[in-house]
Amino acid sequence: MKRLMTASSLIIAVDGPAASGKGTLSRRLAQYYGLAYLDTGVLYRGVGWLMLTQNLDPRDEEQAAMTAQAFTLAAVADADIRTPDVGRAASLVAAQPQVRAALLAYQRDFAANPPGGVRGAVLDGRDIGTVICPDALVKFFITASPEERARRRYKDHRAKDASITLDTTLEDIKRRDARDGGRETAPMRAAEDAELIDTTTLDADAVFARACRYIDKSLKVEDA
Ligand code: CDP
Repeated sequence: MKRLMTASSLIIAVDGPAASGKGTLSRRLAQYYGLAYLDTGVLYRGVGWLMLTQNLDPRDEEQAAMTAQAFTLAAVADADIRTPDVGRAASLVAAQPQVRAALLAYQRDFAANPPGGVRGAVLDGRDIGTVICPDALVKFFITASPEERARRRYKDHRAKDASITLDTTLEDIKRRDARDGGRETAPMRAAEDAELIDTTTLDADAVFARACRYIDKSLKVEDA
């Protein structure tokens, strides 16, 4: 594990669309730099999953707000939240301002007081660099073409569900991109000071190497 030279806390914000590779990158960065990791998608997926299992409509704003306000990670610890249906429900609840407000404090608190006494955190999501941690020292926006992202998602999902096709996966990804980028509250977008990485033709090692170079450069500037 790499030792860091700066004394201040290190927050790394990683945003981007579905299946862009931001989760893989974030986990590796957290391990390499000795930071805590929060996949904020779990919060929205968790709220979406709770609503689906209670037969509630994820579009129902009152019920979604109540579910988000009562939400704990323990409630979804054993749930299968990585399904296309839960992804869709997550994106529906995530467009609602009251849901986002209810989940905001947990994310900011995680960044300010990362568990395990470590000196910082990596958070990945859609609005980390813009809304949750606008002062993060390092911000990334990870993208890839919709077709490439659909191929990656399809590979992950087809083993679990034979009814999934590449076409429906691509449609789903495009619909989710449009909803996440077009919503009024905290739309998915790159912060002005985010480093953009397009992973369409890069493997995970190449993305990681590029991100580390950028972080090390940013830390040197901070030290100077
Ligand atoms: O893994 P994938 O990229 O498909 O999605 P995720 O990160 O698990 O997030 C699922 C959904 O939650 C997204 O489509 C967004 O609608 C929402 N989300 C959000 O709005 N803000 C975040 N910080 C994280 C997720």
